[in-house]
Amino acid sequence: MATEKMTQMTTEQMTDRDLSEQIKKVTKESHVRAENTKLMVSFQRGQVTLSQYKLLLCSLYEIYQALEEAMDRNSNHPAVAPIYFPAELARLKSIEADLEYFYGQDWRLKIVVPAATERYCHRLRQIGKENPEFLLAHAYTRYLGDLSGGQVLGRIAQKSMGLKSGEGLNFFAFPGVSSPNLFKQLYRSRMNSVELTEEEKNGVLEEAVRAFEFNIQVFDDLQRMLSVSENRPQDPSPNSKSYQDRTLQIPGSISPLFRMVVGLFVALATVTMGIYVL
Ligand code: HEM
Repeated sequence: MATEKMTQMTTEQMTDRDLSEQIKKVTKESHVRAENTKLMVSFQRGQVTLSQYKLLLCSLYEIYQALEEAMDRNSNHPAVAPIYFPAELARLKSIEADLEYFYGQDWRLKIVVPAATERYCHRLRQIGKENPEFLLAHAYTRYLGDLSGGQVLGRIAQKSMGLKSGEGLNFFAFPGVSSPNLFKQLYRSRMNSVELTEEEKNGVLEEAVRAFEFNIQVFDDLQRMLSVSENRPQDPSPNSKSYQDRTLQIPGSISPLFRMVVGLFVALATVTMGIYVL
């Protein structure tokens, strides 16, 4: 993309005082923690299950709905306009397509999100109304993350869930971005072009740390939800049997001991019924 190339030079001139450098620095430790949440570690190890992924998608849907609504509403705000790239970055429609693929046409009725997701969305809506400049921090955290580690995670998810290329994985695809690296450079230079007072800049940096924190809490909450649901049978399939076949095994969902007890119970019930009928 021509615009991406044009920004290469600008990016090379970045300094430590640039917002893009400062934001990366202040969120470095949070990034490490986000990467090391149980859910993200499962992802990186290629152990993501369909149940996990579907649940994550539900939360991403709510988060991007709140984020993109706030971005659209503030698209002319001086702190938002330079980093407003709906054609290249917007995720909501892609997530909707993925949810329909996994849950079927009535996917909207099946959205389940933990409390942490609600809190994150509440914050996004609040700053959309009260502090639109903080949207810089949230857009940076999600979109640059999706264009960075997210690209690797997409390929891993495809393999671990045995999906055909692109099936149910629109979330990871950015057809409007030909080179994620060049686009990230453009994005950083746009961030640096935003004029902020010192106070506003500090507010944005704090908000970026908070944005990572929200994500970490969502992952932790999802992990907890999954630990509970993993002890129950798998979600019924919306589409087909082959869809169920692609579901990865949930380790330890039915223990051999449990199977033996059920087997004994069935055998005993059969014998008892036999005696009764006689
Ligand atoms: C398995 C989990 C993750 C992996 C493997 C991962 C990996 C990476 C990698 C390799 C980069 C590129 C670093 C660079 O270009 O210098 C990156 C950047 C980034 N990641 Fe992640 N990431 C993960 C999770 C997350 C999460 C959960 C978020 C936030 C919600 C996030 C947000 C970001 C952001 C904002 C950047 C851009 C940093 C910058 O250049 O300023 N990442 N990530």
